[in-house]
Amino acid sequence: MSRSMLVTSALPYANGDIHLGHMLEHIQSDIFVRFQRAVGNEVRYVCADDCHGTPVMIKAASLGITPEQMIEEVGKHHRADFQGFLINYDNYYRTHSEENRIFSEEMYKTLRERGYITTKTISQLYDPVKGMFLPDRFVKGTCPRCGAKDQYGDNCEVCSATYDPTELKDAYSTVSGATPVLKESEHYFFDLPKFNDFLHEYVKDVLPVELANKLEEWFAQGLKQWDISRDAPYFGFRIPDTKDKYFYVWLDAPIGYMASFKNYCDKAGINFDDYWKEDSDKELYHFIGKDILYFHSLFWPATLKGCGYRLPTKIFVHGYVTVNGAKMSKSKGTFIKASTYLKHLKPECLRYYFASKMNAQAVDLDLSLDDFIAKVNSDIVGKVVNLASRSSGFITKRFEGKLAASVFDPELAAKFTEAKAQIEKAYDERAYAEAVRLIMGLADEANRFVDAHAPWVLAKEEGKEEELHQVCTQAINCFKALITYLSPILPEIYQHSQEFLNDKLPFAEADQPLLDHVINKFKPLFARIDLKDVEAMIEESKQDLAAAQSSAKPADAKAEKGDHKDGSAEYVPLAPEITIDDFVKLDLRVARVIKAEEVPEARKLLKLQLDLGFEKRQVFAGIKSAYKPAELEGRKVIVAANLKPRQMKFGLSEGMVLAAGEGGADIFLLSVDDKAPLGSKVH
Ligand code: 2FM
Ligand code: ZN
Repeated sequence: MSRSMLVTSALPYANGDIHLGHMLEHIQSDIFVRFQRAVGNEVRYVCADDCHGTPVMIKAASLGITPEQMIEEVGKHHRADFQGFLINYDNYYRTHSEENRIFSEEMYKTLRERGYITTKTISQLYDPVKGMFLPDRFVKGTCPRCGAKDQYGDNCEVCSATYDPTELKDAYSTVSGATPVLKESEHYFFDLPKFNDFLHEYVKDVLPVELANKLEEWFAQGLKQWDISRDAPYFGFRIPDTKDKYFYVWLDAPIGYMASFKNYCDKAGINFDDYWKEDSDKELYHFIGKDILYFHSLFWPATLKGCGYRLPTKIFVHGYVTVNGAKMSKSKGTFIKASTYLKHLKPECLRYYFASKMNAQAVDLDLSLDDFIAKVNSDIVGKVVNLASRSSGFITKRFEGKLAASVFDPELAAKFTEAKAQIEKAYDERAYAEAVRLIMGLADEANRFVDAHAPWVLAKEEGKEEELHQVCTQAINCFKALITYLSPILPEIYQHSQEFLNDKLPFAEADQPLLDHVINKFKPLFARIDLKDVEAMIEESKQDLAAAQSSAKPADAKAEKGDHKDGSAEYVPLAPEITIDDFVKLDLRVARVIKAEEVPEARKLLKLQLDLGFEKRQVFAGIKSAYKPAELEGRKVIVAANLKPRQMKFGLSEGMVLAAGEGGADIFLLSVDDKAPLGSKVH
């Protein structure tokens, strides 16, 4: 009987790019889903962006846009990246959605009614300049143990000490640079300890034994009340019956799995309750990284249990990606964004390489770039595609594209059948490395067969017509079986092979040869990886880093004016050299702001009336995020005065006011000594 399942991948945060670390998980789940569908199971496959929390709020502010605008923009990129890697979600949604708000509120109310929510007043570090409580990662200071400077609020990267942010010396807020103060506030807690006994049993059902054992340490330490509220300002859902408390992002993030699925159900006419009611017979699988195991194996099942929903059937946990044996590094160019990879290489190269090293254990996977090139070229091109390219020409030219009525070596064909059950078992258990090993073992057999019977020799011998036909037919059928077995990993080559072989290539019949069957002319199915492409990808990843440093400030950059720890800005690469002739084309003049006003419809602009001495001008300047109109009136500024006037939606802008800084709060108008006469030229 066929199975019915809902599969999810962890929801990527909406404040960052998708990189190869994410792709490990999404490729892993996509292969699982494609395999399950190939063997006739019904699979729903959903994901979403994880939109809430302080980092999203701060990143949007630093870009001068609303979190909603940022989510919209980031969502488009995330979707494109996943599509680019052939990840076939039924629905890719966002946690900042009406469905998620409704579920989160409903579940919270149920938990409250059932006595699982308590409140308590706690003291936390607070940024008095920004008027906000500071999550640990937004506080830095000197390590209380080893004295290392600029360490995060919860742990020291130098001596690995863990501590409370209040223990840091010379603490400062990374949002404003201000010294944090302790402030009290009432928080809402979910009573996790009440679920201790249930969870203790449950984790043994859903996790492999080595992970369940690891969790024993957490149980031994005792589960703690879980703080599920955050104070305003916070980007999230407001907690019902409160004025300014919000759900902590990790409360509504996994509920986002349900919300994305609900959104899909409404579009596809599927009954949501069939999947989520307590006694549902559908299977539910979450693919996650080992860093978020606590949330998925404790908080999430306890929340579901407390509300009377079904529980995950299994939680599939993977490790991290390393590149060339080390943590992905921005400066080495090994922190590779999905979009950067896709500009240089085919998605199936990475899908294959990851699959060839992936198993069901939560161990790290190394992307060794030399091995990557060698393995993809030797396996996909050398062992699989070459089988087809070497033999199909004879079928086309000598036999009018028709395969023979029987294969040459039934024993070889039988090996492809024998391996089928083992390959399926490996896929089902997410032991993809084992599946690939078995499939490549068959590929080796097939290539030995072709080498032994050398169709290129047979083709020249008299009376060997039938043998040539059967050998080539068998080689093509070996290719057919291999590419069908590999179809969950290599869906695009599989699709092109369906066209080439003029057949749907059902997985169930992977080992059944196509006989007396007309195929199409072979077209190249896959190109070898060139070392140059990999080098170009690494080079571009290094440039991505430079670009990131010069545009959007990282969430932990100091946002107040000029207040960097060592007094200098982040390095921005210099523009190309110019000559003095280029420079003198610019006519810069001293001017005074005589009037400054808001432009209500514009997010970034202030309207300035300037006195240049010889004339008055109107200029729109994108400095609203850093200056109030009243601060500007009367001050002298420098204007690019021979810039072509620009007609804007709000009026004509006749020049540009010069400023330093990267935007947001980091904008610093250029000044001149007050004695400088209006209209004087700046040289
Ligand atoms: O760790 C992360 O990237 C989280 N955004 C994952 C959330 S998964 C689920 F719970 F929403
Ligand atoms: Zn330290």
